[in-house]
Amino acid sequence: MDKQIIVGITGASGVAYALRLLDCLEEAGCHVHLVVSALGRRLLGDEGDVHALTAENLIGRPSERLYFYDFDDLHCRLASGSFLTDGMVICPCSSNTLGAVAAGRADNLLTRAAMVTLKEARRLILVHREIPLSPIDLENMLRLSRAGAIICPAAPAFYTNPRTIDDLIDFLVGKILDLLSIDHALKNRWLG
Ligand SMILES: Cc1cc2nc3c(=O)[nH]c(=O)nc-3n(C[C@H](O)[C@H](O)[C@H](O)COP(=O)(O)O)c2cc1C
Repeated sequence: MDKQIIVGITGASGVAYALRLLDCLEEAGCHVHLVVSALGRRLLGDEGDVHALTAENLIGRPSERLYFYDFDDLHCRLASGSFLTDGMVICPCSSNTLGAVAAGRADNLLTRAAMVTLKEARRLILVHREIPLSPIDLENMLRLSRAGAIICPAAPAFYTNPRTIDDLIDFLVGKILDLLSIDHALKNRWLG
């Protein structure tokens, strides 16, 4: 069966990672359920030139596998564990959302879906981006890691000899796809 993946986009820098992730997940045949915070929408415009949430704007083509949800709609299927998914990625993940999930807050669809993912013991991947990290961020990460989440900082490596920004983006997106057990051909491996 095709995978069902929730993607949350929050107001951290790095929406280019999210756009490539959506592209790759959709291309891999996944059903992608997208929730974007208010600040995520602002940064999609500022950094990604995406001013309206449509498949064409996000991945450059129409899609029947990309589903859009209202950030405030706590009454929709993603708010319940009865809707079966294969996991959730928050990419990029702000310190604000990191802290909200670590505190168990569920007052918007993005954090509620994250809480559901954790309680159902499904894959929750937080692609956090902020530097430097405060002790509060670090404690939130440890708390979430102990609760079963995967903290995957937006920190691409250089052992693949990246030449372009796209190479760096692909490295990180390849890592996220690996964590979701989704096949891909992105260049992110050290082959010795
Ligand atoms: C241009 C810009 C870049 C930002 N980059 C980051 C970032 O990289 N990491 C972060 O934690 N917050 C960042 N912020 C701050 C968050 O957007 C802010 O904390 C917001 O409350 C996050 O809300 P959300 O978690 O609901 O998206 C940035 C804000 C702006 C305006």
